[in-house]
Amino acid sequence: MVVIITGASTGIGAALAVEYGRRGHKVGLVARREALLAEVGAQVSAVGGTPAWAACDVTDRVAVVGAIALIEEKLGPCDLLVANAGAGEPSAATKVPVDAIERMLDLNVRGVLYSIGAVLPGMLARGSGHISAVSSVAGFRGLPGSGGYSASKAYVTTLLESFRIDLRRKGIAVTSINPGFIETPLTSTNKFRMPFLMKADRAARIIADGLQRRPGELTFPLQMKLLLGLARMLPNWLYDFVIGRASPMK
Ligand SMILES: NC(=O)c1ccc[n+]([C@@H]2O[C@H](COP(=O)([O-])OP(=O)(O)OC[C@H]3O[C@@H](n4cnc5c(N)ncnc54)[C@H](OP(=O)(O)O)[C@@H]3O)[C@@H](O)[C@H]2O)c1
Repeated sequence: MVVIITGASTGIGAALAVEYGRRGHKVGLVARREALLAEVGAQVSAVGGTPAWAACDVTDRVAVVGAIALIEEKLGPCDLLVANAGAGEPSAATKVPVDAIERMLDLNVRGVLYSIGAVLPGMLARGSGHISAVSSVAGFRGLPGSGGYSASKAYVTTLLESFRIDLRRKGIAVTSINPGFIETPLTSTNKFRMPFLMKADRAARIIADGLQRRPGELTFPLQMKLLLGLARMLPNWLYDFVIGRASPMK
């Protein structure tokens, strides 16, 4: 199987690349820092996988198409896309965070869209494939202090849900991956307690196992799935009260 992972230079993406390598797959790596991609590529080879990489900025539509085409030339057509590149910045409304939110829209929304756009024509022509993106439980409801991040992930989850239905008779599966807190460079600077924090290699195993089932939605860990599932059902007045008290970002 040919798996293409964006944001594969660190964190969840790098761990997932090595996990797919361990399972004997061909793994295409995309991110901006080529030296790190080469290191991850060497790890993929070391565990028995076949790597190829192309450095690009996923917010540049033409560059993403070019990078993915280059990888497909080397490894073959993409069977599974994991659009994982993403970032989060604080964006409390009191700080008027227009610039921060624009950056998150570019990366978390446009970057995912461009990555999907790069593999979708080939998958439609072949009548097979699996498209997934790493969204977040943060997209289930608006989190205080993180409106930009929450909204960008809600966009991804909702977009994938629509695409899942659009593509269900075309032989193409679509899965939104919604992790809770994972130990990566993204969360390493968080000053608050992160409940149910999980190592990236464990998250990678859960993702690789879960995607085999083509589940449509993959939310983990279970405790976070239950907690955020419950939060989705709360009326606004109760949600505001509970999350407002628990939030590390006041
Ligand atoms: N960690 C968590 O708790 C958690 C929870 C839920 C969801 N997520 C999501 O999981 C995904 C991966 O995050 P992570 O925690 O693994 O963070 P990370 O270690 O910071 O990884 C982010 C990856 O995205 C790449 N990237 C950033 N900007 C890019 C750009 N413009 N073009 C191409 N690649 C770019 C980075 O590589 P370069 O800098 O080399 O480009 C890096 O490989 C994100 O979408 C994040 O929102 C994370």
